[in-house]
Amino acid sequence: MITTVVGAQFGDEGKGRVVDYLAHHADLVIRFQGGDNAGHTVVNDAGTFRLHLIPSGIFYPQTTCLIGSGVVVNPVTLLEELANLEASGIDTSNLKLSNRAQMLMPYHPALDGLEEAQRGGKQIGTTKRGIGPAYADKAGRRGLRLGDLAHPDWLRERLSLVLPQVNHKLEYFGAPTMKLEDLLAQCAEWAEALAHRIIEPLPLLRPAVESGKHILLEGQLGVMRDLDWGTYPFVTSSNPTAAYAAVGAGLPPQTIDQVIGVAKAYATAVGAGPYPAELTNNIGQKLRDIGQEYGATTGRPRRTGWFDAVAVRHAAFLNGLTGLAITKLDVLDTLAEIKICTGYQMPDGRQIDYVPDTPVLTTIKPVLESWPGWQAPTTEIRAWDELPPAAQRYLERLQQLTGVPIQFVSVGPQREAMFAV
Ligand code: GDP
Ligand code: IMO
Ligand code: MG
Repeated sequence: MITTVVGAQFGDEGKGRVVDYLAHHADLVIRFQGGDNAGHTVVNDAGTFRLHLIPSGIFYPQTTCLIGSGVVVNPVTLLEELANLEASGIDTSNLKLSNRAQMLMPYHPALDGLEEAQRGGKQIGTTKRGIGPAYADKAGRRGLRLGDLAHPDWLRERLSLVLPQVNHKLEYFGAPTMKLEDLLAQCAEWAEALAHRIIEPLPLLRPAVESGKHILLEGQLGVMRDLDWGTYPFVTSSNPTAAYAAVGAGLPPQTIDQVIGVAKAYATAVGAGPYPAELTNNIGQKLRDIGQEYGATTGRPRRTGWFDAVAVRHAAFLNGLTGLAITKLDVLDTLAEIKICTGYQMPDGRQIDYVPDTPVLTTIKPVLESWPGWQAPTTEIRAWDELPPAAQRYLERLQQLTGVPIQFVSVGPQREAMFAV
């Protein structure tokens, strides 16, 4: 069984906790895109963890975890993350790294910050982790890969070719340039620390697929920040949608059996750009307070809003979602009234039921329908039948509007606070 887990909103839907829950049965968990811009929170018996690069299956010692070829890996943050996990007693020996994953270099975060500063009031609101510049180098064939660490001559040649262009950009921004020998010395340290984890991925993946192993493919971020299908340019620089899982992990696409979209029972977003069902009033603040909506990577307050069924339908189609995991239902427990965005109204009064291109999306108004809240605690609930009837009706409506069956519901951050429907 091969299952992809993707974000069905703007990111931070609770993918980490869903992967941690599902990884119980997994032989292999693979992160397939993004970088350390991710903050995937997992709360289990071992503690509370915010994973940035390491797959959320790392807490099961029998599960192999792979950082896939589609990821951009900052070795500095990876080593920090490994040290933090090990300090908490987590066995990380099963973490492998694809030799084809891009290596995020010190100049990438520098350029990310400089490019953002140059945008003035038109910032994207990136995490400044260097994600955009690293993927730009990958597509521009200027990237270095983790596998290059095992080949110092090759690495020197590649970096010698790339660095003059990088330094030219840094000079353009008036920033200090970087030295070849310094960067190579840093690479030598990373090679020493990581060489034993860097693998050729297909000799691991092919037999796993052919022998029917349980594989989980973990996406980063959500469809509304997808490079092609999100609110461009207010997006990340890779594809967090399921079609990329096959490329980023290294599997034939038709071997993927199911795609689970993770969505909050409301919605949040970090960063700039249009966000149709945003709540800028006291209800939005209430959701932020109860849901502890602050970015796991940058600590920024998350923008909050109602569940946007148009956006999740967009996610459902593009990802071929076979099921939904609805998280954070408990955050709505005290609300007397809950709204759902069911459509977008254009300036001429016409209603549309799809996510339009960004210049149009900035002009629409959300069409909202109202539902009574259940005003009862759900945090101890562990089965659908125990949910208050108003919560069941709300979830049934989400299911109807998105056209995707709800497969899991979570009512608290802990591993055990999630149940199958
Ligand atoms: P991810 O990036 O998609 O993995 O999500 P994040 O970890 O960035 O954000 C989700 C946040 O919600 C984390 O702080 C989780 O611990 C928390 N969380 C996840 N599921 C639930 C839930 O059902 N209820 C509550 N109250 N918190 C949850
Ligand atoms: P997880 O995996 C929420 C957002 C940034 C910005 C845009 C581009 O935890 O869901 P980037 O640094 O990728 O170039 O920033 O994407 N963003 C996230 N928002 N959760 C994340 O990760 C995010 N990773 C990036 O806020 O709008
Ligand atoms: Mg997150």
